[in-house]
Amino acid sequence: MIIFKKIPDIKKYLSEQKAAGANTGFIPTMGALHAGHLSLIERATTDGMLTVCSIFLNPTQFNDKKDFEKYPVSTEDDIELLLKAGCNVLFLPSVDEIYPGGESTVKTYDFGYLDTILEGANRPGHFKGVGQVVARLLEIVQPQNLYLGQKDYQQCMVIRKLIGMMGEDVQVVICPTKREADGLAMSSRNRRLTEPQRAIAAVIYQCLVSIESKQYTSSFEMVRKQCEDLLAAKGFVPEYVALADAKDLKLLEEYSGETPMVALIAAKIGEIRLIDNILLG
Ligand code: PAF
Repeated sequence: MIIFKKIPDIKKYLSEQKAAGANTGFIPTMGALHAGHLSLIERATTDGMLTVCSIFLNPTQFNDKKDFEKYPVSTEDDIELLLKAGCNVLFLPSVDEIYPGGESTVKTYDFGYLDTILEGANRPGHFKGVGQVVARLLEIVQPQNLYLGQKDYQQCMVIRKLIGMMGEDVQVVICPTKREADGLAMSSRNRRLTEPQRAIAAVIYQCLVSIESKQYTSSFEMVRKQCEDLLAAKGFVPEYVALADAKDLKLLEEYSGETPMVALIAAKIGEIRLIDNILLG
């Protein structure tokens, strides 16, 4: 695996690889890698891509300063994991490399409706920061394919929209959420859970499964209330328990037999905010 820290160096290398016929599969991350990230590398490898992973803890997408300061960093371990996973290239830039003129000078994008609901509504400025950094990284890496995890469902939709607005020809490949044995969605933030918090964290997934299993027998309003009560009883503060059209994330008040749906939950335990979702077949 070749590690690049400077933009001109990685650009030069990737353009040589492209000229030699390589297709690039890009996996952007903020580090603290887990099996979910590694599954994206594996998928890109299976697709025959030159795999390029980035580790960049992007300050502009954290609306909560404490969340940024406490975000787990484990770069040495990450490099080991990437080596074992057979990743070809790691881009490990500094903040100055990504935002040389300061954070405010980088172009921003307006995601309209997508930025007004769920994560957008609860984390003001978050998607603006995601858009900034992903646009910058895409300009640098210029991949054919971009690999993202379904856990961040709304982020996947935002990034698809971003690629459309940038006029780029990048295929977005959304890979299934990796879960722990009890169903908890893998997330870098899970590392911050205390033992008692970790022991109950799978309640989020249990709620999603109950939303799915009751879709033909109950009203969503009733199931939402049951989920909110269960989350609260376990010590979570639910931010949202929502149902939406899986295509455009238009929020639904009730189960609909007419459209593919996605159920989404965000809830906080202590200082740690977790999200997850499930597609309803
Ligand atoms: O999902 C993430 O880890 C980040 O939001 C991303 C896409 C790497 C942008 O910083």
